[in-house]
Amino acid sequence: MTTPRPETLAKLTPVLTKRWLSPDAWQIGTYEQLDGYAALRKALKAHPDDLIQLIKDSGLRGRGGAGFPTGLKWGFIPQGDGKPHYLVVNADEGEPGTCKDLPLMTHDPHALVEGVIIASYAIRAARAYIYIRGEAVHAARRLRSAVQEAYDKGYLGRNILRSGYDLELVVHSGAGAYICGEETALLDSLEGFRGQPRLRPPFPATHGLYASPTVVNNVGTIASVPPIVLGGADWWKSMGTEKSSGPMIYSLSGRVANPGQYECSMGVTLRELLELAGGMQPGHNLRFWTPGGSSTPLLAAEHLDVPLDFEGVAAAGSILGTTATQIFSDQDCPVYATYRWLEFYHHESCGKCTPCREGNYWMVRVYRRILAGQGTHEDLDTLLDTCDNILGRSFCGLGDGATSSVTSSLKYFKQDYLDYIEGRTAPKLSEKTLVGAH
Ligand SMILES: Cc1cc2nc3c(=O)[nH]c(=O)nc-3n(C[C@H](O)[C@H](O)[C@H](O)COP(=O)(O)O)c2cc1C
Ligand code: SF4
Repeated sequence: MTTPRPETLAKLTPVLTKRWLSPDAWQIGTYEQLDGYAALRKALKAHPDDLIQLIKDSGLRGRGGAGFPTGLKWGFIPQGDGKPHYLVVNADEGEPGTCKDLPLMTHDPHALVEGVIIASYAIRAARAYIYIRGEAVHAARRLRSAVQEAYDKGYLGRNILRSGYDLELVVHSGAGAYICGEETALLDSLEGFRGQPRLRPPFPATHGLYASPTVVNNVGTIASVPPIVLGGADWWKSMGTEKSSGPMIYSLSGRVANPGQYECSMGVTLRELLELAGGMQPGHNLRFWTPGGSSTPLLAAEHLDVPLDFEGVAAAGSILGTTATQIFSDQDCPVYATYRWLEFYHHESCGKCTPCREGNYWMVRVYRRILAGQGTHEDLDTLLDTCDNILGRSFCGLGDGATSSVTSSLKYFKQDYLDYIEGRTAPKLSEKTLVGAH
């Protein structure tokens, strides 16, 4: 295991993670001792429009995957329209490899609750929801207890801190479907319908929850709001790069010595993150990795020095996504890894549109054939052709994301496919998996 050099250690910028290791960090007493709810007191003295401007000035971009500018999104909410406004926090976190929101809600739930109150005040919402993944029982328990503590202390409910502002906050557990992380499917699910994406336009900013103006933001986005209110836009922009400001929680998993969450200024490289994480596990050499979860195209060892911000990763042909960096070594097979991800997308496809529903079904079958040693050279064309028919033709991002590892693994690791097809690699799957595959 390697020890990080002081200059690499200096890349760590704990802002959202700064309380995680404090004893009982999830309790309101600890939170209040460590700056907790100071930002709320400050925010409630400001005009809501000034808060929206502050978030615009900070350059904060959504942490849910797409990197949409948060202040701009809040600014889309029509004011004086006489309709109720809603803030909905997307705490579904289902993308394979992604694990930044659940630890945040488990260790520091008040950071999210405080962010919700400030964001709701800014967009003039009197009701907010946190939609949390059904399986995240422990995080939901911590969150519910934090919400109760906040009500008891007068941070939620009527006339918050005697400001005249009222807010009700509801924590809602989903049933555990990846598609319910897609913001419009989430809204349908919250309304009690089957979670399937909605046609856009109209967008949630005008026709969201119960057909009213709604902001949907990721957990990390909303938890970034209190530190911005306290530290100011310039301080936030002093971290990160020009177009990707602030710190980001990078989740390292796989063949690294110390997997976990590393919060660094945006633009850190995988080489630096690996150094922080003690290097690769003994006997393993980096071969491929995802920069932002399994929906983002794979990168290879040659991309170790790509700046991990929105622009840098895009220039390298991938997507920053949820900064879930899954690390694979020379002992891992990119064909098999892609197959496992496809099984996930096939299982989680909501079935609303044909390209994703049928395309993933067929691609899983082609992979099984290849991995059982029965693939043909034409199968590789079939895979690329199927991806062509899914990408950009699906109703939502799930379909697009499913193609990422297929096309990128064929781009960088075609030889691995050929080795199965031409018999140089022993089959990984038995022929039994091929029932109905042809
Ligand atoms: C299939 C699918 C799953 C998604 N899952 C999540 C999720 O679990 N959490 C999340 O914040 N965003 C998820 N998103 C992105 C949301 O649709 C939306 O862009 C995000 O919640 C907006 O928040 P932000 O602007 O703060 O990033 C998903 C998108 C797709 C297409
Ligand atoms: S792309 Fe997939 S998940 Fe999205 S609407 Fe179509 S079938 Fe459903």
